[in-house]
Amino acid sequence: MSESTNQESLANLLHEERRFEPPAELAASANVKAEVYEEAAADRLAFWAKQAERLHWEQPFDEVLDWSDPPFAKWYVGGRLNAAYNCVDRHVEAGNGDRVALHWVGEPDDDTRDLTYAQLQTEVCKAANALTELGVKTGDRVAIYMPMVPEVVIAMLACARLGAPHTVVFGGFSADALASRVTDCGAKVVITADGGYRRGAASSLKPAVDEACEKVGASGELSVEKVLVVRRTGEEVGWTEGRDVWWHDVVDGASSEHAPEAFDSEHPLYVMYTSGTTGKPKGILHTTGGYLVGTSYTHWAVFDLKPETDVYWCTADVGWVTGHSYMVYGPLANGATQVIYEGTPDTPHKGRWWEICEKYGVTIFYTAPTAIRTFMKQGAEIPQKFDLSKLRILGSVGEPINPEAYVWYRETIGGGRCPVVDTWWQTETGQIMISPLPGVTAGKPGSAMTPLPGISAEVVNDEGQPVGNGGGGYLVLTEPWPAMLRTLWGDDQRFKDTYWSRFKDVYFAGDGAKLDDDGDIWLLGRVDDVMNVSGHRLSTTEIESALVSHPKVAEAAVVGAKDETTGQAVCAFVILRESALESGEEAPDSLIQELRKHVQKEIGAIAKPRQIMVVPELPKTRSGKIMRRLLRDVAEHREVGDVTTLADSTVMDLISKGIDSGSSSGDEG
Ligand code: WT7
Repeated sequence: MSESTNQESLANLLHEERRFEPPAELAASANVKAEVYEEAAADRLAFWAKQAERLHWEQPFDEVLDWSDPPFAKWYVGGRLNAAYNCVDRHVEAGNGDRVALHWVGEPDDDTRDLTYAQLQTEVCKAANALTELGVKTGDRVAIYMPMVPEVVIAMLACARLGAPHTVVFGGFSADALASRVTDCGAKVVITADGGYRRGAASSLKPAVDEACEKVGASGELSVEKVLVVRRTGEEVGWTEGRDVWWHDVVDGASSEHAPEAFDSEHPLYVMYTSGTTGKPKGILHTTGGYLVGTSYTHWAVFDLKPETDVYWCTADVGWVTGHSYMVYGPLANGATQVIYEGTPDTPHKGRWWEICEKYGVTIFYTAPTAIRTFMKQGAEIPQKFDLSKLRILGSVGEPINPEAYVWYRETIGGGRCPVVDTWWQTETGQIMISPLPGVTAGKPGSAMTPLPGISAEVVNDEGQPVGNGGGGYLVLTEPWPAMLRTLWGDDQRFKDTYWSRFKDVYFAGDGAKLDDDGDIWLLGRVDDVMNVSGHRLSTTEIESALVSHPKVAEAAVVGAKDETTGQAVCAFVILRESALESGEEAPDSLIQELRKHVQKEIGAIAKPRQIMVVPELPKTRSGKIMRRLLRDVAEHREVGDVTTLADSTVMDLISKGIDSGSSSGDEG
C-alpha cells in the first residue's frame, strides 16, 4: 500500500462540528489554567519537579529523571517515600482525619460503610501488621483477588506500606488466570474473600483460589504459603489448615500502630497483568514515586478535584489499572472523598448508579463508554428519575467514545452543564496522557483532544514521521513521563520489543490516531483493529461510530472478515435500541439496508458494511472491551474460539443462534 493511500485512508472522515466551551464559573476557579501548557512545554522536567511537591518525600530526590539507559527510566532519583503514608497518614496529620475517604456501597441495598481517613489509617496499619505477622517482607509479592469491598483498598495500601508489590487479579478471572499470574510474579501470599455480591447473588471466590494454589504448587517451584480470607458473603468455604487464615482473626486484633518505612522512589509498587495480542499476559511494572506524582497530578488536574467539597466516583473495578490509578492511588493521595460500589449497575434496578449519585451527592463521575451506551439503550427515563444536579464533571475512559454517546452523556447525565473529559491512557502509561482540561479546553465529542501538560505525543506515519494536522497514523509518546511502566515483570527484552522497537526511541502505544485540522487527537482504536478493505485502511471505531449515530442503533461492533475480492470486508454487529422494534419483532431487511446506506453517507461507499447482523448482545470482557476476535470467527463462519475471558459466556450462543435464524443480511452492492 502506498504511503499516500495509507494516510488518506487512515484519516478519519467523520465530520463532527459540535463544540462545548468550559462553563465560565468552572473555568474561573479551575485547578489548572491555560498557561500551564506553556509552562510545562518551556521546561518539562522543571514542571514535573514542581508536581512532585504534591507528595511527602521522606528524603528529597536529587534528579527529576534519569534517562541515560532508555527505555529504562528512573524518576525522582534518590528520593524516598512511602505510598501508603502519602495516601492516608499525612491527611490525618494535616487535620483531615474526619474526612470520609470511602463511601462504600455494597450491592445488597442496606449494606454500606463509610471510612474516614483516620479509620482508613487504623485499618491499613492493622493489616500491615497482620501481613508482617504472616511473613510478608519488603519486596515480597502479594496477589489480591477480591470483590469491591473496603478491604481490597486496605489490602493494597497495606502492601504498599510494607513495600511488598501487589498484583491485583480481577475477581472475574478464572482459577487458571489467577494461577498464571501468581506464578509469573512469584507471589507467596494471596489475599481474597469468600466471595462478593454480583447481580443480586453471592458469587464465590475462594474455590478459585484453592484451585489456583493447587496449580501453582503442582509446578514444584513455588507454593502459596498463606491465603488471607475476608468474610464477605458468609458462605461456606473449603479450608486448608496452616495455609488459610481469616482476615478477622489476624487483622482485627492487630496493633493499629505501624511506622511506615520510606522506600526508594523506584521501588516496585505493583504489577498489573494485561493481555497482549499473543502469548502470556504481560506484567506491567509500576514503581512508587513517579507513579504517585503522575496519578495524583492528573487526577487533580483532569477532574479539577476540590478535595474539601467534591464527591468523586470512578466505577471501574479495582482489578483494572483504572481502579489502581483513579480509585486507589490518585484520589487517596489527593485526600479525596469517593464512592466505591461492589455490584453491577442494574442490581437491583437499572437506576442503581444514579440512585447512588443522588444519595452521596456525587460531583465527579468517571466511567466507560460501554456503560454509557448501555444506559442509552435503556433510555433516558431511568437516570431522569434521580437528582443528578450535583454532578459537575464527567469522565470517560477505556475506548473511543463515539460522539452520540458523548452527547447523550453530557445532556442526559450531565444536564448539559458538565464538561466531559475523554481521557486516553493505558495500563502501561499508568496515568492519563491525553485529555481535555475541564476549565480550559472546549470539548469536541469523540476527541481526546491534546496531551496533558508535561506529556509529549505525536501521530506518525509508517516511517515514524509526524503526519501533521489533517493526517492519520500511529500514536507515539515521544518523551518519558512519571507514571510510565518501567518494564515487564521479569522480561526486559519483551518490554523493549513490544513498546520501543516499532519506532526508534519512542514509545509505540499500539493505537491508531488522527490529527484534525486544529491538531486535536482522535483515537481510532488499536491498530490491530484496523481493517484493510480494497487497500484502504479503515478504522473499526469510525464505522461503529457511524452506525451508532443512527437513531435506531444502540451499540455496534465492526470486524474485518476475509473477502475474496476486497481482502477484508466490513461486517457489523448491531444492537438496536429498545424503541426500534416491537418486542419480539425481527429486524426487517429494509432497516438493515437503511443502516448500510447510513454508513455510506457518513463515511463513504468504501466503508459500507458487506453484512449487518442484528444481535441481542455483544461479547465483551469484564472490562468492557469488545472481543472482536470472536465476532471475526462468526463473520468468517469459523468455530468460535476461546471464550474464557468473556464477561458472560452465553453471549456467543445467543449471537450464533440469532444469526442462524436469519436476522442477518447483506447484498453484493
Ligand atoms: C487501550 C488501553 C486506561 C484504562 C482503561 C484501559 C483504549 C483507553 C481511551 C480513550 C480511545 C482509549 C486504547 C488504549 N483507550 N482510553 N479515551 N479513547 N481509546 O486500559 O486495558 O490498558 O487499554 O484502551 O486503545 O490503548 P487498557
